[in-house]
Amino acid sequence: MWLLTALLLWVPVGGQVEPTKAVITLQPPWVSVLQDEKVTLLCEGPQQSGDNSTQWFLNGTAIQTSTSRYSITAASINDSGEYRCQTGLSMPSDPVQLDIHRDWLLLQASSRVFTEGKPLTLRCHAWKNKLVYNMLFYQNGKTFKFSPWNSELTIQKTNMSHNGIYHCSGMGRHRYTSAGVSVTVKGLQSSTPVWFNILFYLSVGVIFLVNTVLCITIHKELQRKKKWNLEISLTSDYRKKVNSYLQKDRNLEEEVKCLEQEEQPQERVHQKNPEGEQ
Ligand SMILES: *[C@@H]1O[C@H](CO)[C@@H](O)[C@H](O)[C@H]1NC(C)=O
Ligand SMILES: *[C@@H]1O[C@H](CO)[C@@H](O)[C@H](O)[C@H]1NC(C)=O
Ligand SMILES: *[C@@H]1O[C@H](CO)[C@@H](O)[C@H](O)[C@H]1NC(C)=O
Ligand SMILES: *[C@@H]1O[C@H](CO)[C@@H](O)[C@H](O)[C@H]1NC(C)=O
Repeated sequence: MWLLTALLLWVPVGGQVEPTKAVITLQPPWVSVLQDEKVTLLCEGPQQSGDNSTQWFLNGTAIQTSTSRYSITAASINDSGEYRCQTGLSMPSDPVQLDIHRDWLLLQASSRVFTEGKPLTLRCHAWKNKLVYNMLFYQNGKTFKFSPWNSELTIQKTNMSHNGIYHCSGMGRHRYTSAGVSVTVKGLQSSTPVWFNILFYLSVGVIFLVNTVLCITIHKELQRKKKWNLEISLTSDYRKKVNSYLQKDRNLEEEVKCLEQEEQPQERVHQKNPEGEQ
């Protein structure tokens, strides 16, 4: 029971103590790029002294790079996938999904999955940075922004209403339309179930309390029983011993008396003929 409590108490504490996750940032920040474009992944995390190497993983397989920067100079379809990184003293980072596209127009997002409150930047990007204008941004098929020249837009404080599939269109030689990109905004409540934590700590507290009370009562009970047993054994032993002592004493007394009674004539006998017995 105590071990269980100790374990329960240890687990959340251990959870807080565990090493921090490494973090991947993209430069430029887009999680999707067009073929032959340049993108750099940066890994940040606590390092061991004397060893600043970084491990990179693509789709779970280690890649031959040990620097904190992983540069892709001309992205190919084979660079698509799920990237993770890990530094000496960090946990592996959350994955970053990088997609390489072949298209005329691409809607780029700074992130695909994030928690509400975080900013989201979208960019309507043309192949080889060709000029496009009169851009339209769509969320779930509905236009929500017209932008004559600026290909970027930022939502500073996102909320659940920003969930959805985004795409854009822009005028070049004719109107081009991008593919859709799914953006998931996670609610704070669902990502960090505060009630669960509260419940967890509360139950641990209650278990601890119950344990303490139980332990104290058991301890007291045991001590009482021990005392009682001891008393019983003591008293009975004592009585027995006293009795036996008394008995012995009585016996002794009797013996002494007998001896005394016996001794006198014996002594007299002894005195009478001391060599007689030897
Ligand atoms: C580690 O850091 C040193 C100095 O800061 C640098 O010269 C070296 O290239 C780094 N090594 C790696 C693997 O990043
Ligand atoms: C991508 O990988 C496949 C094998 O996995 C290979 O055949 C192909 O040449 C690669 N393409 C590029 C552009 O590296
Ligand atoms: C990684 O997995 C994705 C699918 O999730 C796949 O499209 C991509 O080609 C894979 N990349 C490599 C390098 O295996
Ligand atoms: C979400 O944010 C938009 C502005 O970006 C705001 O108009 C809307 O009221 C917000 N919705 C909620 C539920 O907070």
